[in-house]
Amino acid sequence: MLTKKDLLGIKELSVEEINLILDTAAVFKDVLGRDIKKVPTLRGKTTVNLFFEPSTRTRTSFELAAKRLSTDVINFSVPTSSVVKGESLIDTALTVQALGADFIIIRHSSSGVPHLLAKKLKASVINAGDGTNEHPTQALLDAFTIREKKEKIEGLEIAIVGDIAHSRVAKSNIYCLKKLGAKIRLIGPPTLIPKELERMDIDVFHNMEAGLKDVDVLMMLRIQMERQGRGFFPSTKEYSRNWGLTSERFSLAKDDVIVMHPGPMNRGVEITSEIADGPRSVILEQVTNGLAVRMAVMYLLAGVKR
Ligand code: CP
Repeated sequence: MLTKKDLLGIKELSVEEINLILDTAAVFKDVLGRDIKKVPTLRGKTTVNLFFEPSTRTRTSFELAAKRLSTDVINFSVPTSSVVKGESLIDTALTVQALGADFIIIRHSSSGVPHLLAKKLKASVINAGDGTNEHPTQALLDAFTIREKKEKIEGLEIAIVGDIAHSRVAKSNIYCLKKLGAKIRLIGPPTLIPKELERMDIDVFHNMEAGLKDVDVLMMLRIQMERQGRGFFPSTKEYSRNWGLTSERFSLAKDDVIVMHPGPMNRGVEITSEIADGPRSVILEQVTNGLAVRMAVMYLLAGVKR
């Protein structure tokens, strides 16, 4: 059982809780393979998607997860809401709770917003990405995909490549995969790898070719142009030349390496289409697994004693 009503980050989860979510997701993945994919488990509950930042995968899969569990779903549209008239975040959240929300799925550009809401609300708050802090369900679906493909996580060499500094996906994955016993290495320019992560028993490579050696899982990250306040590298062309996953570089990796990317991808910058669409890529399977993982999270949070 989970013990807290909210999912705010991987940092707060124990190994047992992570494994419970992954095992429950495996059950829901079986359900999603059936002709009738919908279960009545959370009938009568209401889910509100409160996304203050754009999203394709996370918002859509939370909506579908909520519908597959038979909850009613409201996709709150920030640009057409009273937020544009100056209504505060807390008042907005209290308003949707007053309308009966049991789950509030929140994405926001400021780190810590889900934690603030969780303190104010009775509803379960699920962090769908907060600033550069965490994106817990992305890390859980990544762990689920790795476990499915490699049949274990403990002892694997997992490389996270690129813009670590601005990536909530990287941070949640580091917490999650380290708790599950993987060996993590970070590959990228010094300007995009925070020094504090280097002190966390993580190997750091500033040379892509050296970093690719002996890796079981290669997790490519998007260059987050929208969060780059200053030049962390000279140009995207320069970035791609040094850190992009090209076929030539990929040939240095193990034959059975899997390639992951949380999306959205900058094709031709951090990854070529040949690799993104190639036989070692599990990028679309990550998306598919996100549905089962998000169903598992909602199901388990609904069972938490209040
Ligand atoms: N991986 C991810 O969070 O994608 P979206 O921004 O499309 O939700």
